[in-house]
Amino acid sequence: MSAATEDRSKSFQYEVLAYSYYRDAELRGSNLIYRLLRILPDDESQILLSEHLADETRHAWLWTERIKELGAAPVPITDGYQVRIGKRAGLPRHPVDLLALTVVVEQRALKRYVEHLKRDDVPERTQEVLRAVSKDEGWHIDWVRKKGRDIAIEQGDPERFEEALERYRMIDREVWAELEDLESVWAPAVN
Ligand SMILES: [Fe+2]
Ligand SMILES: [Fe+2]
Repeated sequence: MSAATEDRSKSFQYEVLAYSYYRDAELRGSNLIYRLLRILPDDESQILLSEHLADETRHAWLWTERIKELGAAPVPITDGYQVRIGKRAGLPRHPVDLLALTVVVEQRALKRYVEHLKRDDVPERTQEVLRAVSKDEGWHIDWVRKKGRDIAIEQGDPERFEEALERYRMIDREVWAELEDLESVWAPAVN
């Protein structure tokens, strides 16, 4: 294999794997939203969560479509961001905690996408997908954060939401450090 061919195949493998990680995070994120749908019965939540869930599953599809365009199939991911978060944080049962966890994972997703967009040599189509998915994350974060705060206040425990955010942010930082180490192994050429 020539050096140029080897380089191309390395970047192809990197793309398929990176998009598979994104896809996995979107699918598992959808699962959080689905759980919220079952525990937040009020009209506003039911409407917003339905749209939110539709967005997340569409994001998963956009990454799947991008992988398909490369002539590949999604790689099964068993050690991604959400799995690592779940192992440390468990699956919160209280709505305020679940909303706080959702804010933290959404913020991480947005950060990953924005940082990816800043790299050199991002293929045009990938830029399109990154922009499309990032566009929705803003309203997701805003409404979930507001809902978490409102419920905590209603329940007479206004600190609960901020405390939960702090707890999950700590876990997020640990998990992110692990994933960055992992990415530096399988994507040595990423700039
Ligand atoms: Fe998303
Ligand atoms: Fe989102």
